[in-house]
Amino acid sequence: MRSVIDILDLSKTEIDELIAVAEDIIKNPAKYSEKCRGKKLATLFFEPSTRTRLSFESAMYELGGNVIGFSSAQTSSASKGESVADTAKVISCYADIIAMRHPKEGAPYVASKNASIPVINAGDGGHNHPTQTLADLLTIKREKGTLNGYTIGFCGDLKFGRTVHSLISALSRYENINVVLISPDELKLPDYIKKGVLDKNGMPYTETTDLESVIPTLDVLYMTRVQGERFFSEEEYLRLRDSYILTPEKLENAKSDLAILHPLPRVNEISVKIDNDKRACYFKQVLNGKYMRMALILKLLKEAGSI
Ligand code: CP
Repeated sequence: MRSVIDILDLSKTEIDELIAVAEDIIKNPAKYSEKCRGKKLATLFFEPSTRTRLSFESAMYELGGNVIGFSSAQTSSASKGESVADTAKVISCYADIIAMRHPKEGAPYVASKNASIPVINAGDGGHNHPTQTLADLLTIKREKGTLNGYTIGFCGDLKFGRTVHSLISALSRYENINVVLISPDELKLPDYIKKGVLDKNGMPYTETTDLESVIPTLDVLYMTRVQGERFFSEEEYLRLRDSYILTPEKLENAKSDLAILHPLPRVNEISVKIDNDKRACYFKQVLNGKYMRMALILKLLKEAGSI
């Protein structure tokens, strides 16, 4: 059974096809409104979410399907000690496809090995968030007109930011991308991604702690929240959480066609004064996520022979 746990579970061709389907959904939504009639998506969220869960649910409703699920571990039998494996087997009796978020890295993978229906990783710990990456890619494509040939800066918590890890992996499939890693020393991109993705694929990258010095070079700026929930020390989190705050002043030397992305939720990393700047793309990114999730649900249900 085909599941999507890591963004690299999808080939470049498949990602490009998903983007094409999402763009067609945007142009012709009525064509897709009955595609999943009678089918059920189960959203199994063991960790809080606003965008991912509700965009999956919205995506399934807009495909004519239905949704079941839970939004916290406390309201599921996980609170009584039920395993992820058993949960996946049980939900396979009720639904046609699962979207799962879990605080533990690898939990959606375990679910996929025990489910008899496709499982989509909706974010697992500090590891991966493939459908956020699909949203990011569609946003870059729509804003820049291409997924090749630009300089992208990743700023903030590059250590725990699973959306950063997934997006860098996906970008390794595209051509001529320069990566600028902007973070405090304590929150640098893990070595396994630098060596296993950037070095392995010959992607040029630089590391800096200084956003202002590199902002004029960027075509895309991917801001991230410092992931307080993954810190062991509250004191360390409080010291680092406001390391980078993007303000109109800091954008003065940025390119006029810079695309500013953020997976959200935003805490303090981007001043609300930037929201009306034409370079701010983070709310468009939210909407793009729904279209890409629609495209992915369609693909996996088709491959499973459900539709
Ligand atoms: N971007 C993202 O994953 O947001 P949520 O945590 O609200 O789902």
